[in-house]
Amino acid sequence: MSIAEYAIIGGTGVYDPALLKNAETITLDTPYGAVEVIIGAYESKPVAFVPRHGPHHQWAPHRVNYRGNLWALRQLGVTQVLATAAVGSLDPEIAPGTLVLVDDFLDFTKSRPCSFYDEGTIVHVDMSDPYCHRLRQHLRATGDRLGIPLREGGVYVCTEGPRFETKAEIRLYQRLGGSVVGMTSVPEVVLAKELEMCYATVCIVTNYAAGISPAPLTHEEVVEQMRANVHRVRELFFETFLHMDGIRDCRCPHAVGGQSTLGMKGDPS
Ligand code: HPA
Repeated sequence: MSIAEYAIIGGTGVYDPALLKNAETITLDTPYGAVEVIIGAYESKPVAFVPRHGPHHQWAPHRVNYRGNLWALRQLGVTQVLATAAVGSLDPEIAPGTLVLVDDFLDFTKSRPCSFYDEGTIVHVDMSDPYCHRLRQHLRATGDRLGIPLREGGVYVCTEGPRFETKAEIRLYQRLGGSVVGMTSVPEVVLAKELEMCYATVCIVTNYAAGISPAPLTHEEVVEQMRANVHRVRELFFETFLHMDGIRDCRCPHAVGGQSTLGMKGDPS
């Protein structure tokens, strides 16, 4: 039984769902530990919310329970996920405050569990359209309707963190075609695809990356920029869900042959 079809994963600076009515927190047991999820309704549409870094923002990017968070959502019947991500800009033309609808990634993570398929069944999930293009279209349409400008397309460079990058690393990422840099989109986007969920991320540019920005980077400026922009993203997400039907005519529901990991560790639905 599906409790909620739609979910938001809130990154740094997005710790509560704010606009949800009758919100309650439930704890779900997953093969990756217990995960707290907030469930409520937006205009009577059930929506689940998970703070990516844990209920007290206690997990650094390399320690986030990415698998637990997504498994818990899947257990609730979620098939469509919108995520926020604070990022630095690699492009002088992408200024702080810009919302970027990324469509691809470069993975520079090092130590994270990055798959539900560790043993037994081996799956090599297709990543030629990592962020669901159908969800991106819906976000764009909602942005146009609400007058919330979204920069269409961009390559998310995912680093291991939790430190910020060196100037040399930023020069490398620029040469490789990166647009923005952050620490969390991988493996989240990959795991969502392995569970055959539709998943899209709106990046909130909080700063110019190291070396582009003349000043040293601080977590405080990231949080400050998030505070200034979070209301726009919340409205964008909830209004997007409100105007969506349940039709998933993208490739995501068949990303691993329509099987997802069901049966590996028990059917989570
Ligand atoms: N680098 C990595 N992650 C980030 C940044 C950055 O400059 N800004 C916000 N998250």
